[in-house]
Amino acid sequence: MKIDILTLFPEISLAPLSESIIKRAQASGLVEIRAHQLRDWATDKHHKTDDTLCGGGPGMLLKPEPLFAAIEELRGKDTLVVLMTPQGKVFKQALAREMSQRSHLLFVCGHYEGVDQRVIDELIDLELSIGDYVLTNGAIAAAVVSDAVVRLLPGALGDERSSQEESFADENLLEAPAYTKPAEFRGLKVPDVLLSGNHRLIAEWQREQAVVRTRKNRPDLLK
Ligand code: ADE
Repeated sequence: MKIDILTLFPEISLAPLSESIIKRAQASGLVEIRAHQLRDWATDKHHKTDDTLCGGGPGMLLKPEPLFAAIEELRGKDTLVVLMTPQGKVFKQALAREMSQRSHLLFVCGHYEGVDQRVIDELIDLELSIGDYVLTNGAIAAAVVSDAVVRLLPGALGDERSSQEESFADENLLEAPAYTKPAEFRGLKVPDVLLSGNHRLIAEWQREQAVVRTRKNRPDLLK
């Protein structure tokens, strides 16, 4: 897989992808991740990438010319071009799974008040948000989505079961609580069933506890 990130802040998106599992996925050739400075496609002498809003209003918008030039250069025929924006469809694990099947992702990162609508109309396949809050820029969001997608590539995780058994593997349930050794710590005990060796009882307990946790933290998932 190839991932390109187009942003005014390449270092912001690369930093979280330069450690641990995603670093290893790149080193072993599962994914090639590049971040590109949008300013490099601005042709005027100040490398200007933003401008004021037509019709008035506060803030600045990313101009169409550098974005058109950059996206047209970076995309290929199989590229999914994704705009990171709080106005997008909300990112979920099912979409991470779909995106992990693609050969090339190009993330376009908004900044300021966003991007000129002509860019969205002509060049963007998917407007994507990582949640109902506003970040200072889309580079952070592109790193989040890249991380969630790359870890699903076969071979990226040490144990493939990790991605099958975790929260959202079953769309409507969070993961059950988990414990490690010691069996007792400051008088706090690991539930007996997890030490019983009875796999059927353990699975039943985990299912029950997953429902309890989901009802407490994410009742919206059970509706
Ligand atoms: N840019 C700013 N906020 C964002 C969000 N919530 N998701 C994606 N991109 C963003």
